[in-house]
Amino acid sequence: VVDIGKLYGKSGMFTYDPGFTSTASCDSGLTYIDGEEGVLLHRGYPIGQLAENSSFMEVAYLLLNGELPSQDEYENFTYTISRHTMLHDQLRGFYQGFRRDAHPMAIMCGVVGALSAFYHDSTDIADPEHRKISSHRLIAKMPTIAAMAYKYSIGQPFLYPDNSLSYTGNFLRMTFGVPAEEYEVIPAVEKAMDRIFILHADHEQNASTSTVRLAGSSGANPFACIAAGIACLWGPAHGGANEAALNMLQEIGRPERIPEYIARAKNKDDPFRLMGFGHRVYKNYDPRATVMQKTVREVFDALKVNDPVFEVALQLEEMALNDDYFVEKKLFPNVDFYSGVILSAIGFPTTMFTALFALARTVGWVAQWNEMISDPAQRIGRPRQLYTGPTQRDYVPFDKR
Ligand code: ACO
Repeated sequence: VVDIGKLYGKSGMFTYDPGFTSTASCDSGLTYIDGEEGVLLHRGYPIGQLAENSSFMEVAYLLLNGELPSQDEYENFTYTISRHTMLHDQLRGFYQGFRRDAHPMAIMCGVVGALSAFYHDSTDIADPEHRKISSHRLIAKMPTIAAMAYKYSIGQPFLYPDNSLSYTGNFLRMTFGVPAEEYEVIPAVEKAMDRIFILHADHEQNASTSTVRLAGSSGANPFACIAAGIACLWGPAHGGANEAALNMLQEIGRPERIPEYIARAKNKDDPFRLMGFGHRVYKNYDPRATVMQKTVREVFDALKVNDPVFEVALQLEEMALNDDYFVEKKLFPNVDFYSGVILSAIGFPTTMFTALFALARTVGWVAQWNEMISDPAQRIGRPRQLYTGPTQRDYVPFDKR
């Protein structure tokens, strides 16, 4: 708490909290995190139970509506989502404007923002029905948008959605299938991918979600708000960390080299950090990392892959968890530590990792946006600052400077 009287000769106090580490920007009934205990709950349900027993569409319904769906509600919801998976044909042309080597997140920022220009039938954000349609459109179109970004980068034709498949199966087919050839969705891969989406669906007021809320607090169009969230997620300290973790594991390459990297991470004169370790909120094992580790084994078994990088990851985790430095600083593997290993085994290039995160987090973003807009106490977000510039002074003409 800063006494503004001391600074400006006025009375009053305000909080100064760089990085908002102890400031709640809103109240929310969606997601609960206890970082000390390593607990993550969505609407009260533990993430481990959701990842084990539910599907991404169930979790999407839960986050949007507050309760798990009945069988009928689930079928209606998945049917509704499947009716919105197509992109307007003009948006195909939009892709041609990007360079082939554009990062998928650059394309996704542009295409999702551009959706604002296509849906004039749901612009009244005060109307819950309009908000619902926009939310469904966003959740439904993200797989199509992400898969098209990938296809464009490798110069292959786009595949239309196949709505007879599951949400995740359809995404895998649009990404890895080719026209005129059967694409067989491997159930273990579909399950693993769906679980990865569940693990990334929401994580309370992280940087990108706060960005979506702040953008939305002005009454901005929801597609534009989600484009802002995608832009924020792109950063290496947020959505880009799984790419960095995989690069690090590949660079380590063999278990014998692990001690060298642990020593570097502990050396204060070396800026190197163990990527995929540590978390702003979790000071215990990230519950999502536990599920990820198990999922790696399932995917490797299904695809008959034996990537030495997984062995490096397991041994690195074990050594770090037994090292005083990591124990004292409460640094544990986070969700990103294993996700890159799985995604690369499934066949995604590293540039797609953050795009997959964005696809899944869209559910949390729209749920949080809806919660905010429907709150009667909602006001435009307007953080204050601690001014450190010059005190008032008179303008100086050019010839006197
Ligand atoms: N390796 C080595 N040391 C570390 C690591 C790490 N991965 N993470 C933190 N530390 C050390 C810091 O050097 C610092 O030491 P000090 O107290 O001696 O100065 C102490 O632990 C606290 O670190 P902070 O950076 O202050 O912690 P903060 O909560 O701000 O940072 C963060 C959290 C950014 C995630 C950090 O742990 C990190 O950089 N990890 C690697 C990147 C990563 O995995 N990011 C993914 C986050 S999860 C997500 O976005 C989905």
